[in-house]
Amino acid sequence: MNPVTSTASGPAARGAAPVPGFAVIPGAQVQKALQGREQEITELVEATYRLHGAGQTVNPPSYFLRFPDRPSSRIIALPASVGGSVGVDGLKWISSFPDNVAAGLPRASAVLVLNDRDTGYPLACLESSIISATRTAASAALAADRLTRTRQRPTRVGFFGTGLIARYIHTFLTGTGWSFDEVGVYDVSADSAAGFCGYLRQSGADGQGGADGRSGAHGRGGGGITVHDSPEELIRSSDLVVFATVAGRPHVSDPALFDHAPVVLHVSLRDLAPEILLASANFVDDVEHCLKADTSPHLAERLTGGRDFLDGTLDDVLTGRVDPPADRTVVFSPFGLGVLDLAVGKYVYDAVARAGDLRVIDDFFHELRRYG
Ligand SMILES: NC(=O)c1ccc[n+]([C@@H]2O[C@H](COP(=O)([O-])OP(=O)(O)OC[C@H]3O[C@@H](n4cnc5c(N)ncnc54)[C@H](O)[C@@H]3O)[C@@H](O)[C@H]2O)c1
Repeated sequence: MNPVTSTASGPAARGAAPVPGFAVIPGAQVQKALQGREQEITELVEATYRLHGAGQTVNPPSYFLRFPDRPSSRIIALPASVGGSVGVDGLKWISSFPDNVAAGLPRASAVLVLNDRDTGYPLACLESSIISATRTAASAALAADRLTRTRQRPTRVGFFGTGLIARYIHTFLTGTGWSFDEVGVYDVSADSAAGFCGYLRQSGADGQGGADGRSGAHGRGGGGITVHDSPEELIRSSDLVVFATVAGRPHVSDPALFDHAPVVLHVSLRDLAPEILLASANFVDDVEHCLKADTSPHLAERLTGGRDFLDGTLDDVLTGRVDPPADRTVVFSPFGLGVLDLAVGKYVYDAVARAGDLRVIDDFFHELRRYG
């Protein structure tokens, strides 16, 4: 229900439906609602994957808007509807402009529109780069947990690509109970690697205790930090490998690098040559979504002409239908589902509404009488 509706007054409005309210939720409010709630949000993301697996969502293909004159940029529309306990419809509209980073702006920017279930009226517009990074990191932390339950829990994590998403994933891993003896870092940009190491030290991942006063060893996951000179070194020295680059096509192609059978969170989707996937066990968030847009699983499908290389979805693992192998490389390639953005966005909306802090735009919907 929309808590900011009011009823139109005056004779012409007699018997009329409530006038829908419309709120704008800026990034500071979004961050306040989500910060420090890694465990709760990861559970919400798990519940949403389960609703999706049980057919209680609508999640059409994402629509990619691309520009012939700016080939590295894109804006993606993710419409979705979540039923069950979440109950919300809406749309995420997210831009990726990689050149922003050199200009000092984050690559991605986004808004999320939530729609009222009863009237269809948009009820809020939320800053959504934080929501998107949060749901991506919660999904990665959930997958890391569930895909390693059949093996010894990794203690050496490696971040391949160290931008904002890598930072959120590290925060979610440590916020959901992971601690690491070693954190490996590799990025083609020395500045990015240095910035990420600064974040790691501040969060206590170097074992020195972070700026937030939490002990590195207990709260923030901490052993040593190593910046690697080569991709090979990073992969070989990590049992949990996180890919969060902006690579548009595979740049890691030697299956032998994975001989130690790590678990790989392939969040950036296009880093691994199909041969590596074919030598691994593969899990995705949604098969139809993930086998599109030249992702590595899509390339593997093209190469083999089929989908036999897929072992299942994360929901198959959550519900116990499939057990991930303990002795093979496991690759999780999440396309990123709009239903997750909606679930996290609704969580934020409800928290801000409960606190009485919704910034409602008066008279946003103005033409409400059919004949004037
Ligand atoms: N699957 C999902 O649900 C999902 C959701 C959100 C973001 N993403 C993806 O996560 C990725 C990272 O996003 P971000 O916001 O952190 O971007 P970012 O620009 O902040 O960081 C990307 C980093 O990758 C580095 N990089 C680029 N190519 C590299 C390579 N070949 N080897 C090593 N490092 C390389 C860059 O130098 C940069 O530091 C993007 O590809 C984005 O599309 C996926």
